[in-house]
Amino acid sequence: MTNKAFVVEKVEDRKFNCEVKEIEIPEISDNEVLIKTTYSSLNYKDALSSKGNPGVTRVFPHVTGIDVAGTVEVSNSDEFKVGDEVLVTGYDMGMNSDGGHQSYVKVPSSWVVKKPSSITDKEIMTFGTAGLTAALSVNELLENGLTKDSGAVLVTGATGGVGSIAVSILSKLGFDVVAISGKESKIPFLNEIGASDVILRKDFDIENKRPMGKEIYAGLVDTVGGNILNEALKVLKYDGVATCCGLTSSHELPTNVFPFILRGVRLIGIDSVECKREKKEAAWEKIADEFKIDTLNKITTEISIDEIADVYTAMLEGKITGRYVVKI
Ligand SMILES: NC(=O)c1ccc[n+]([C@@H]2O[C@H](COP(=O)([O-])OP(=O)(O)OC[C@H]3O[C@@H](n4cnc5c(N)ncnc54)[C@H](OP(=O)(O)O)[C@@H]3O)[C@@H](O)[C@H]2O)c1
Repeated sequence: MTNKAFVVEKVEDRKFNCEVKEIEIPEISDNEVLIKTTYSSLNYKDALSSKGNPGVTRVFPHVTGIDVAGTVEVSNSDEFKVGDEVLVTGYDMGMNSDGGHQSYVKVPSSWVVKKPSSITDKEIMTFGTAGLTAALSVNELLENGLTKDSGAVLVTGATGGVGSIAVSILSKLGFDVVAISGKESKIPFLNEIGASDVILRKDFDIENKRPMGKEIYAGLVDTVGGNILNEALKVLKYDGVATCCGLTSSHELPTNVFPFILRGVRLIGIDSVECKREKKEAAWEKIADEFKIDTLNKITTEISIDEIADVYTAMLEGKITGRYVVKI
């Protein structure tokens, strides 16, 4: 058995090198399992880790990959047996614990979820952390009373992993979805996956001093933060519901209290990384059932472990569209 892995090494202070190479198969301790990987995926956070971003990874050498699907190869846990089909997303995997971009991954059993049987490993990794985040966001809109009759829902960073899956799920559920995107050339793609209208980011990412705008949208799935989130909050209708999960525009939120105190707008934070395993399990069941989208093949690009570095570069430049799955 060999373990082929995408490894990030620290060369000198603030300089990191990435290489695909053979490494030792990890040995597991009590309450851990060894997973034989079938598929992993690429997320923005993996790209940051590959550049040695200390907010993500401080331990090197390091194997990236915050998502993994595969079968249990060795188990030191009562919860899982050899051959179980499983997946892991988030927690410390791919951050300071080695991640899914290798043939064999060791993880604490408390991170592991049994894969629903109605979805394949490749499909579930197309969702991955991005899809789980999109599903948790849509769930919050639904649990806070939004229905397809409430009005249109805005999705920001719409061609990205979280955004494209949120557009697809909302459209499948019958919502009128309006996408905000920086990529004019991807308007046909966004229409194809379910957006009824697309607003270009440059028309929305503005410093607008008006405290409120016209009431237009019933809901918002925001993946970018910054001015865009601020402007979107201002145009939510009375009782509007917004979720916020990302920061590709900015970690700042320059806003005011009017949408909250005059229109009862609710802004809900989404974290798919550390959230309880039971919450993840419930979301994965939905993803494999009522949220299972038929646009997966349109948003998925499959790559090999040797192509990861190039996609990381494009990802950090905001140039990628949809989801990248890695066949291991
Ligand atoms: N809270 C959580 O649990 C959680 C989980 C997963 C991800 N996230 C975060 O969510 C965000 C999106 O993740 P992802 O996996 O979807 O990333 P991604 O696939 O890289 O997509 C990000 C998208 O953001 C847009 N974008 C890029 N640069 C931008 C800029 N300067 N200003 C405004 N928009 C910009 C682009 O879409 P357009 O060109 O279409 O505008 C891009 O495709 C990231 O910040 C990530 O860290 C959070």
